[in-house]
Amino acid sequence: MTTDRNPGPTPSAQQSRQLRDTLGQFATGVTVITTRDINGQPAGMTVNSFNSVSLDPALVLWSIDKQSLGYEAFTTRDHFAVHVLRADQQHVSNLFAGRGSNKFGQIHWYEGPNGIPRLEECAAYFHCGRAQCIEGGDHTILLGNVLEFTAFGGEPLVFHRGRYRALAGD
Ligand SMILES: Cc1cc2nc3c(=O)[nH]c(=O)nc-3n(C[C@H](O)[C@H](O)[C@H](O)COP(=O)(O)O)c2cc1C
Repeated sequence: MTTDRNPGPTPSAQQSRQLRDTLGQFATGVTVITTRDINGQPAGMTVNSFNSVSLDPALVLWSIDKQSLGYEAFTTRDHFAVHVLRADQQHVSNLFAGRGSNKFGQIHWYEGPNGIPRLEECAAYFHCGRAQCIEGGDHTILLGNVLEFTAFGGEPLVFHRGRYRALAGD
């Protein structure tokens, strides 16, 4: 079932800023999601819109900006891999939040299932098949079937109000 509603008026720059700031109150983890582009080159980006959807069947989602250089790769390739970052991996998040190609020359990775690049280190890993691309304004929502997953543990990297944070002690 898909329910389409009227998109409403285009927000002003100030309203967009306020919306961004308000959404930033929602603390998230940070992931790096990888795939291969149409030339077979590794592609990857930092993503905090990742979330769980369903346990049976096992489904996850994330959303990708239509302007990102990896857009074509992620919306056409059949598989992607999600790496949940640890607190000590801020540099990996910053690397994959940059635009362009030479991200994989600067970290340790290897080829995972279906040839998808896999980072050597992370807190958790999900290998996914692309199930659906769903229209979402200036983003596209990617729904993935979880095909393999592993939890390695460790303190998570947290993103809140535009900054990396440490988790408060239990
Ligand atoms: C913490 C954090 C979270 C991000 N989350 C997303 C996201 O969910 N979706 C998205 O499209 N971009 C997100 N970005 C921005 C991309 O990582 C950034 O635009 C990247 O340059 C895209 O790479 P590309 O243009 O080489 O494909 C995020 C950036 C940061 C720092």
